[in-house]
Amino acid sequence: MAARYKLPSLEGKIIAIDGPSGSGKSTTARLLAQKLGFIYLDTGAMYRALTWFALRHDLPTGDAKILEVIANRLKIEFKADGDVNRVYVNGVEVTEEIRTPEVTRKVSEVSAHPEVRKVMVAIQKELGKNGHIVAEGRDTTSVVFPEAHVKVYLDASLEARAQRRFLDMTRSGVKTTIDEQKADLIRRDKYDSTRKASPLKKVRDALTLDTSHLTIEEQVERIIKLIRTKIGRL
Ligand code: DC
Repeated sequence: MAARYKLPSLEGKIIAIDGPSGSGKSTTARLLAQKLGFIYLDTGAMYRALTWFALRHDLPTGDAKILEVIANRLKIEFKADGDVNRVYVNGVEVTEEIRTPEVTRKVSEVSAHPEVRKVMVAIQKELGKNGHIVAEGRDTTSVVFPEAHVKVYLDASLEARAQRRFLDMTRSGVKTTIDEQKADLIRRDKYDSTRKASPLKKVRDALTLDTSHLTIEEQVERIIKLIRTKIGRL
C-alpha cells in the first residue's frame, strides 16, 4: 500500500507506541506505518520468536545465559505482506507459530531476563537508527527509543482487551473463552509491569489513548492528528 501521508517533516522520525496486551498496538502500529510509508517494528514478535526457538529446542526458558547466547545468534526478519507482518527465524517462517498459547504462556518469562533485553534492545536500536520507523512494544517509548519524536501509550479496559483477544484467537482456530483471556491478560499485565527490567510504564511525554471504544481506523487517525501537532512543533 502506498504511503498516504507524505509530510517532508516526517523524514527520519521515530514513532513509539507502548501499552498492555490487547490494547491494539500491533494493528495500529502496522496500519500507521503503512500510511506513513514507515518501517513497522513489532518488538514483541522478537521476544516471541526467541521463546518459540527455545521451546522448539527444549531449552530452559528460565536460563538467561543460554537465552542470551541464542538471542545473539538468531536471525529474526520481518517482511510486510499486505495485512500480515511475516516473521522469520533463521529463514524459517514462524508468523503463526509465535502466537500459539504455548509461546504466549512463556514469553513473559523470557522477556523478563535483563540479558535477553539487552541483546534485543541493541538490535531494535540498530533497526531504528535511520528513523522512519513505527515501533511498538512495552519499552519502546522508555528504553529503546527515548528520543522518539512521537510517543503514544495505548490502553483499554480489561473487558475490551479480553474480547479482542478472544476474537483473534477464535479466528485463528484456538478454542478459548473470554474468562480465560481475562485471566491470561491479568497474569501477563502483572508480569510485564512488575518485572525489574524495563517494566511496562507510561512515560511522562507519551500521549495516552484509551482504545476501549475506538475502532482501529479511529486509533490511527488520532495518532496521525497527534503527529501533525507534535511534528509541527518540533
Ligand atoms: O506484544 P506481544 O503480546 O506480542 O508481546 C509479547 C511479550 O513480550 C509480552 O508478554 C511482553 C514482552 N515484550 C516486552 O517485554 N518488551 C517489548 N518491547 C515487547 C514485548
